[in-house]
Amino acid sequence: MPKQDAQIQRKVEHLFLAEKYFTDESYADFDSVRLLHNALPELSFNNIDLSTQFINQKMSLPIYFNAITGGSKQSTKFNTELAKLAHKLDIPVSSGSMGVFLRLPETKASFTTLRENDPDGFVIANVSAKANASQAQQAVDALSANALQIHLNAIQELAMPEGDQEFFWLDNIKQIVAKLTVPVIVKEVGFGLSRNNLEDLYKIGVKYVDISGFGGTDFAQIESSRNHELDLTYLDQFSLSTVESLLESIPYQEKMTIFASGGVRTPMDVIKAIRLGASAVGMSGLVLHHLQKYSLSETEIFFTEFVKQLKLIMAAIGAKSIQDIKKAPILFDENLVNYAKQRHII
Ligand code: FNR
Repeated sequence: MPKQDAQIQRKVEHLFLAEKYFTDESYADFDSVRLLHNALPELSFNNIDLSTQFINQKMSLPIYFNAITGGSKQSTKFNTELAKLAHKLDIPVSSGSMGVFLRLPETKASFTTLRENDPDGFVIANVSAKANASQAQQAVDALSANALQIHLNAIQELAMPEGDQEFFWLDNIKQIVAKLTVPVIVKEVGFGLSRNNLEDLYKIGVKYVDISGFGGTDFAQIESSRNHELDLTYLDQFSLSTVESLLESIPYQEKMTIFASGGVRTPMDVIKAIRLGASAVGMSGLVLHHLQKYSLSETEIFFTEFVKQLKLIMAAIGAKSIQDIKKAPILFDENLVNYAKQRHII
């Protein structure tokens, strides 16, 4: 692996800076949403079913490990651990952007460890919106991936000193969706998608979207910290929180499958995101934090407990299945009602 490669160096800095800025607090607006409990749950705790259809495969849980890394020695370690954990939990796991693999094929092993350590699992490849269809297929083939994520990261690119300045992506995404052999998920990287974005994506044939809203990992902050000349953190002010973005997605939830991520910290956040329309809920910052700060077995204990809490909350709201969560009574605080009114959502 080339030692001084700038793209690889940037990926290493992302890991370090994500941990530096990680906090247990979430700004994703989950606190502005309230679920009401059911005093007559009429269910048996042990029969609560957490299984979920993830695109075209039945998985045990409604959560997944979202895109993080690849390319470096450090990322080989994290991808190996993520895949081992995803395998144990029977949840999907995504690779970080494979642009570096497309440019430097010698970095392949840092990505393929995902498939090696989760041989029958749901593994997702990840490329940028400027990759062409044949590069996207190459990324999928390298991992024998079950799906591809295309990331939209305009704010991140703008905050990077060496970032892209050309943002003509829709035609390219359309080509990839039409040509690829696996389903394609279009995702943000933590700034959210508006319903105008969802309309644009729907029109070009995109069926799966991860709104990845604001509230957790903040790439305006991370890239500003790498850019020693300018603080461009203010760019995150344009973002939609994960909850706001889920509200934006309501008119599209029948026509597209909506995944949610961004600032998911607790089992309650997961249940609220599902109640607001998410088909499954992704986490990057939280799992990466645990793997950086604790051992793999401690991280496994954390997520085993996390799953138990999911069941406990489902019992409290009277939900026997993931579908039942969508029927739970819900309330929004004034700020969210204000947002929804101004955006003509309610
Ligand atoms: C990311 N994320 C990301 N997303 C993507 O599509 N391709 C990528 O290569 C990366 N790289 C990456 C590196 C690191 C260190 C982190 C923490 C995250 C974004 C990620 O998938 C997700 O959309 C956001 O991080 C928001 O979720 P969390 O972190 O708040 O749970």
